[in-house]
Amino acid sequence: TTTPVLTIDGPSGSGKGTISRLVAQQLGWHYLDSGALYRAVGVAAGWADIDLADPAALVRCAFDTDIRFREAEDGELRVLVNGLDATDELRTETAGAAASAIAAIPEVRAALKDRQRQFCQPPGLVADGRDMGTVIFPGASVKVFLTASAEERAERRYKQLSDKGVSVTLSGLLREILARDARDAQRAVAPLRPADDAVRIDTTGLGIEDVVGQVLALVKR
Ligand code: C5P
Repeated sequence: TTTPVLTIDGPSGSGKGTISRLVAQQLGWHYLDSGALYRAVGVAAGWADIDLADPAALVRCAFDTDIRFREAEDGELRVLVNGLDATDELRTETAGAAASAIAAIPEVRAALKDRQRQFCQPPGLVADGRDMGTVIFPGASVKVFLTASAEERAERRYKQLSDKGVSVTLSGLLREILARDARDAQRAVAPLRPADDAVRIDTTGLGIEDVVGQVLALVKR
């Protein structure tokens, strides 16, 4: 009677978000975007003028911030932070950088642990993040680790942002991605690494449907 969990971990731009949402949709399972929780705490800390160098205040913020996910009429997932729709703000590079900084604080990670586990509800959960298979759901039924070359990840992000009219350079994005990768991989708590029992899929050059198919095949096996 245990609820099945599929964890999808990997670096930013590996396609985790898109793949996880599609797989969750196809399976009819719940979806946890754990990065959005870290981003939400980062954004809430910004609203409250909390210094990113004040761990105690950030931990309090992690406990106190109300974070809700709501599916909009167009099927898009909106994120409400303390009651305000912060979906667009959460996607900015500033929010990503703040998330990455606060995610390095062990007590912040601990503060968000139970909240993440509460997403595990029948009929199943697809959990997307960095440490879903290693720390949050170590007993998950299927674990996937998605990768892609840094160049391809920068290109995907470049496309996404230019489609939205945001002006960025490919080389600037590549630099940011490499810096964030290094920070996420080197931090002392929950560094980005595949679980021993994770299946690695390199998505470089693969289409979305291809990857979704491979992941679904693992779940149905
Ligand atoms: O996945 P996303 O880009 O939204 O995550 C933003 C940041 O939050 C990451 O760079 C990472 O530092 C942190 N994060 C984390 N653990 C997770 C999800 C995100 O440390 N499970």
